[in-house]
Amino acid sequence: MHTPDKPQGKLAVLLPGMGAVATTFIAGVLLARRGLAAPVGSLTQMGSVRTRDGSHRVCDYVPLQPLDRIEFGGWDIFPESAFEAAEHAKVLSDKHLALVRDELSAIKPMRGAFYPEWVKRLSGTHVKRAPNKADMVEQLRADIREFIASKGADRAVAIWCGSTEVHHVPTAVHQSVAAFEDGLRKSDAAISNSQLYAWACLQEGVPFANGAPNLAVDFPAAQALAREQRVPVAGKDFKTGQTLMKTILAPGLRARSLGLHGWYSTNILGNRDGEVLDDPGAFKAKEASKLGVLDSILEPAENPDLYGDMVHKVRIDYYPPRGDSKEGWDCIDLFGWLGYSMAIKIDFLCRDSILAAPLVLDLALLLDLSKRSGGVGIQDWLSFYFKAPMARPGDASVHNLFLQMRMLKNELRRLMGDRELAATPSPTEQELSEEFEQIAAPAA
Ligand SMILES: NC(=O)c1ccc[n+]([C@@H]2O[C@H](COP(=O)([O-])OP(=O)(O)OC[C@H]3O[C@@H](n4cnc5c(N)ncnc54)[C@H](O)[C@@H]3O)[C@@H](O)[C@H]2O)c1
Repeated sequence: MHTPDKPQGKLAVLLPGMGAVATTFIAGVLLARRGLAAPVGSLTQMGSVRTRDGSHRVCDYVPLQPLDRIEFGGWDIFPESAFEAAEHAKVLSDKHLALVRDELSAIKPMRGAFYPEWVKRLSGTHVKRAPNKADMVEQLRADIREFIASKGADRAVAIWCGSTEVHHVPTAVHQSVAAFEDGLRKSDAAISNSQLYAWACLQEGVPFANGAPNLAVDFPAAQALAREQRVPVAGKDFKTGQTLMKTILAPGLRARSLGLHGWYSTNILGNRDGEVLDDPGAFKAKEASKLGVLDSILEPAENPDLYGDMVHKVRIDYYPPRGDSKEGWDCIDLFGWLGYSMAIKIDFLCRDSILAAPLVLDLALLLDLSKRSGGVGIQDWLSFYFKAPMARPGDASVHNLFLQMRMLKNELRRLMGDRELAATPSPTEQELSEEFEQIAAPAA
């Protein structure tokens, strides 16, 4: 990786899946760049990074694409414009939407690549037809090239904001580029919709981040192709409501050597994402992505007396009256001195897409920065944004939010040529943990 130059020209941000999250993101950027609302929750726009020269706003410290030179595009299996989809999602107020109505109405999704067995609760009408999956990828590649050309953009990034797909694990077809290409020609049933988009993006040299728990780029063939094409990738599953809270609180409990009998989490949500997650296959993908978090932070094998018998359960219920206003409850059964029991209850009345939209913006800008700096393959320094962060082969995923933030900011410092940091290799998780423990430890 090398220090990036100032970005030139326009950046196309491509969104496979233009539902609640994607349209809340687009509308928010349109409002923010006209000074009509603040991009709260975005580290690149509102966060800071400290160096020896003091504190800098992230967007002043690293050369990010300016918000007013972004073009938005994407695909969906329904033909609604971004304005209609945003109205349907009911996340933003009529007042906010009216201010950017014309721009949102002009953003129309391209036809989606959709094999319905991957998202059982939706039957899309705005879909491509293709004799096989290889042809489907070629159509997506043509879409990418045409979109970039029609907008006069210099380059593109893609963030998967499509529905969660049925849980599955990589098969033989996912193991090498050749096997996957062969599988595409044979329309192998194990190749999912999100993988078609990811493959098309990688072939076109477009960085790809995955906001859902499915395996879009999380399999060996995609990572090999990313290395071949010299493209950065990141994933998976945006870290928003309950998991965000978990990865903030659990490090603190561990820092104070408090034990846990169990952690029960349940959610109600009523948006289209909730409807999709009502299917047991899609829920299984989400559950797997949510469950890994506590074990990684608490390390029960190393701390059996505190966490060895911990029970961790996660539930999601589709409850239409709530729309996008999710409510997440956590019941944390902990124990302290001499094993005495205590409990913490969290009731987070959150807004799903309001929490997710700034992550889409940051990922788009930081993946573009990474590409311009020579970043290739899995970008684990972007773990901060994900529930189930993809790690480089042989490394464990980092879930602790504070360690993730450290990794991200250190990478920015390294990119900007901080000589001291640039001279040291990437810190390992253990080094980061020790550093975190020093920060978290009470003063002697
Ligand atoms: N909102 C959050 O807090 C949050 C957090 C983590 C992950 N996510 C994930 O982000 C994704 C988007 O969430 P959302 O609330 O916007 O959901 P949504 O249902 O409003 O939007 C998803 C869109 O994807 C479209 N789609 C499905 N398959 C497609 C395909 N093959 N090609 C093109 N479009 C396709 C759907 O038609 C829909 O419009 C979901 O997978 C969700 O699980 C959301």
